[in-house]
Amino acid sequence: MLNITIDGIETRSEKGERILTAAARVGVVIPTLCQHEALPDLGSCRLCIVEVIEGGRRKVVASCVYPIQQDCAVLTDTERVRADRRVIISMLHDRAPHDPYLCGLCAAYGVPLESRYELPPELTCVLCGRCVAACDAMGSGAIDMAGRGTGKRVSTPYDESAESCIGCGACAAVCPVQAVPMREDGGARTVWNTRFEPARCASCGASYGTAAALDFIRRRLDPNLQALLSLCPRCRRLRPAGGGRHKSVPHRASK
Ligand code: FES
Repeated sequence: MLNITIDGIETRSEKGERILTAAARVGVVIPTLCQHEALPDLGSCRLCIVEVIEGGRRKVVASCVYPIQQDCAVLTDTERVRADRRVIISMLHDRAPHDPYLCGLCAAYGVPLESRYELPPELTCVLCGRCVAACDAMGSGAIDMAGRGTGKRVSTPYDESAESCIGCGACAAVCPVQAVPMREDGGARTVWNTRFEPARCASCGASYGTAAALDFIRRRLDPNLQALLSLCPRCRRLRPAGGGRHKSVPHRASK
């Protein structure tokens, strides 16, 4: 175990533990954006920067990806950290000017809300990569980063309908600024230029998810569990223990 201090609070840490995790353990809050507990480390937004003093050296690192390797002192709110973080907040806010979380950070760090650039109103993606990581984790791999510089964006191959997309919505669920182009209409879902028909519950008829996503999961599921997939989450919960016939209970269909 290693001895560390975080803003003066002493704690012990296993080698390799991320600074962000250790800080949360002792109640020190560090702002984050791209980090998500269900996804691999991304380290793309740099919002979580802190100063680390270790081995006589002092440096700024992204706390969500930086592994603790030796005894060290972590400082999360120095003037240097605040100055660097102000620049990062300003750049993120320029891309997603209406996001409440980023607007709150602007207020907390004294960053002006006026954008420094003329940006098209639809430009709201902060390019954190969470959606791409979620799509990869699903095993679909339908989207990726495309382009360079100011033209960098998340996209399907050639911006066309992606064959491998199953419309599961994992990308939209993890996006921190609600920038994924997904909409629902009468149970059907349109995302990344593709329309998906809804899955219908075999018991109550409610729509839930997409038929393509259900097929995708069914192919990977234990055959003994596949029958459960034909039920919406609510009817699944009402299914009697032992798998007998369950009673259909009316409820509001999802939109
Ligand atoms: S939260 Fe650490 S780099 Fe984004």
